[in-house]
Amino acid sequence: MARKVEPPVPADKLPRHVAIIMDGNGRWAKKRGLPRTAGHVKGGLMLRKIIRHAKEIGIEYISFYAFSTENWNRPNDEVSKLMELMRKYLKDVYNFFDERVRFVLLGDRRDFAPDIAAMYTDVEQKTRDFDLMTVGMAANYGSRREITQAMQEIAELVKEGKLDPADITEETISQHLYTREMPDVDLLIRPGSEQRISNFLLWQSAYAELYFCDTLWPDFSPKEFDKAIVEYANRTRRFGAV
Ligand code: FPP
Repeated sequence: MARKVEPPVPADKLPRHVAIIMDGNGRWAKKRGLPRTAGHVKGGLMLRKIIRHAKEIGIEYISFYAFSTENWNRPNDEVSKLMELMRKYLKDVYNFFDERVRFVLLGDRRDFAPDIAAMYTDVEQKTRDFDLMTVGMAANYGSRREITQAMQEIAELVKEGKLDPADITEETISQHLYTREMPDVDLLIRPGSEQRISNFLLWQSAYAELYFCDTLWPDFSPKEFDKAIVEYANRTRRFGAV
């Protein structure tokens, strides 16, 4: 693959799938005396920047936590602003068309306003054959809900006599998650000082390397992304072996 930018580590040391919890937008805004929503606007710009950079250095899969199933409980004006940003970014996806980036919604589209749900479906369909990089956008996402829904689907198959419980494997479960067409997460990055996973890709991150940093998401940068990649490349992954 022709790279526009040299990766910070040899290509065979790059993680295949990077997942990012974009945290700290609200604090970034508060520090500047701005409304929290200003932090989300700035965070959205960083999202674009990191997608482009990740693609340029040769990352194959990248997932972002944009909106959790719990985020609906935030004040109405904040939720509205996030939905407005979602509409804007979904339209913006078309600017990535010449870059062959595939977009996949990780989340339950049924709770979104019909126009947003339709946009997700449209973007997924129009980008489905793009193969240079896949972006997973976790929106209305919760890992426990995702696993619960997978169990319900599998139970239906058993009930219909299409699946023998003895044949249920880890692969069966992976194939019923939103990430069914993505490999497991290799590197999970969380800016914004908190050191927790917050119900994000729990199954998929079973063996992920975790990288936490104090930088708030709007202040994150391609340089900080590369720093996480270098740290990842220097870690020894044992997957439970010695
Ligand atoms: C967490 O920061 C961030 C979010 C809940 C929203 C993430 C959204 C974006 C980066 C903008 C792009 C938006 C979409 C929907 C595509 P926080 O608000 O919890 O920050 P805090 O911990 O400082 O309060």
